[in-house]
Amino acid sequence: MQNFILLLSYLIGSISFIVGLKMLSHPDTARKGNLYAAVGMSIAIFATIFLYTNEAGQHLGNYPWIFAALIIGTIIGTMMAKKVQMTAMPQMVSLFNGMGGACAAIISIVEFKHLMHKEELKETTSSVTQFLNEVAHLLIPPANPKLILLTILLGLVIGTVSFFGSMIAFGKLNGNINDKTLPAQQVINIGLLLIIVGLLVAMVSGFTGIDTTVLFWSLFGVSALYGILFVMPIGGADMPVVISLLNSFTGVAAACGGFLYSNPVMLTGGILVGSAGTILTILMCKAMNRSLTNVIVGAFGGNKTGGASEEVGGAYKEISMSDTAVLMAYSKRVVIVPGYGLAVAQAQHTCHELEKVLEEKGVEVTYAIHPVAGRMPGHMNVLLAEADVPYEKLKEMEEVNPEFAQTDVVLILGANDVVNPAAKNDPASPIYGMPILEVEDATHVIVNKRSMKPGYAGIENALFYQPKTSMLFGDAKKVLQALVSEMKNM
Ligand code: TAP
Repeated sequence: MQNFILLLSYLIGSISFIVGLKMLSHPDTARKGNLYAAVGMSIAIFATIFLYTNEAGQHLGNYPWIFAALIIGTIIGTMMAKKVQMTAMPQMVSLFNGMGGACAAIISIVEFKHLMHKEELKETTSSVTQFLNEVAHLLIPPANPKLILLTILLGLVIGTVSFFGSMIAFGKLNGNINDKTLPAQQVINIGLLLIIVGLLVAMVSGFTGIDTTVLFWSLFGVSALYGILFVMPIGGADMPVVISLLNSFTGVAAACGGFLYSNPVMLTGGILVGSAGTILTILMCKAMNRSLTNVIVGAFGGNKTGGASEEVGGAYKEISMSDTAVLMAYSKRVVIVPGYGLAVAQAQHTCHELEKVLEEKGVEVTYAIHPVAGRMPGHMNVLLAEADVPYEKLKEMEEVNPEFAQTDVVLILGANDVVNPAAKNDPASPIYGMPILEVEDATHVIVNKRSMKPGYAGIENALFYQPKTSMLFGDAKKVLQALVSEMKNM
């Protein structure tokens, strides 16, 4: 009966993950989806703590330790999640992802010790006991020890790479670590990968004659080094791809744990994270025009100061607040392009207010969402959803690009790289090939930012110097507040 309830809890947990993930795909249902998955996860955790029994019929025990860890983890996690700024979310995702990787690696370390202990016991048991064991195994075949060892080792490698890689990603996004590229970085990374594969083969085949424990810790060391060196040189616009890739690694490492313990909920959760992370990685690679192979061998896109090869500069023109208000109020169609600066200024609510004032004046207003605008996937969607901007008003890049030609005014709010024409025109630019929002097709382009400083990729933007572009300098929130009051007085 106890086992039945345990299995039922795992089934509920697995279903809640799938339903939760599905609901995450739409902003209206995302919060509920997150909650469903969390409730499912809690059911699975508590069922394991209280109902799981081993072959000898013993419960987990260690309750003070388990609950102390649960309480401390819950308090730290809740405080961090409540305190984190929206713009610092990628760092936090990296940190949490690293914790998942570390858990998977620790499971492998513990299970490797168990496996070694079992092997030692086998060697010291009498021949009569061995004979009886063999007869028992004929009746119930045990899991293949090589397969168990391989699962443990894969969990170790993937979990360790994910933990160390995520910690470096956290340090870089937090500004504590700079991009560093070793000479022949790609060769070193490929070399480390080959050593990892060699150690895996040697350990599973058992042909080397070297102590397995020595090989195990060597594998751990090389994986840690690979995790560090793989993320270290990556910078510029490529960081989100790496975080998403590390996220999928953690999922696969957790799935190895699920396989090891024959735990369906751990297996489902791991596979879902692994596959969702992989899909997101591929989508982001496409959005930023990067190949996945390049990500895996490392050392790309790290040169933030690279700059475009084309000379960018000349005169730019400014526009006043009242001229902007008049231009927008008498337009038929306005498209707002939100970017990282809008999130920094926390101007999403004022932006929504502007949109409503414009609509009252009969102007059609939509938002153009670039897949990597801001600092994390879906950053702009979350930001605007926070201000209750109707989801139907947000248009994906592919949908909105052909519509710019019929747009009177494009208002760019704190966006830069995602509208940089160098991505289309300058093969020497670090962002060359990244699809952009083709705002130049509109009749007027108004850019709001605080200065002429570059954006995340660290490169100049020729759009700011084009005849149809006007600069509206200032903090996005203050500018939007002023625009709203200008328009209300018109
Ligand atoms: P960016 O290119 O980073 O440009 C943001 C602009 O906002 C800056 O030029 C800045 O100019 C302006 N700004 C900053 N604070 C402001 C404020 N308070 N008021 C008004 N303007 C302000 O942003 P983007 O166009 O959204 O592009 C995102 C970039 O980040 C891409 O290169 C992308 O690849 C990268 N990235 C994306 C992600 C994801 S997944 N979204 C993750 C990491 C990196 P001033 O300083 O002159 O004001």
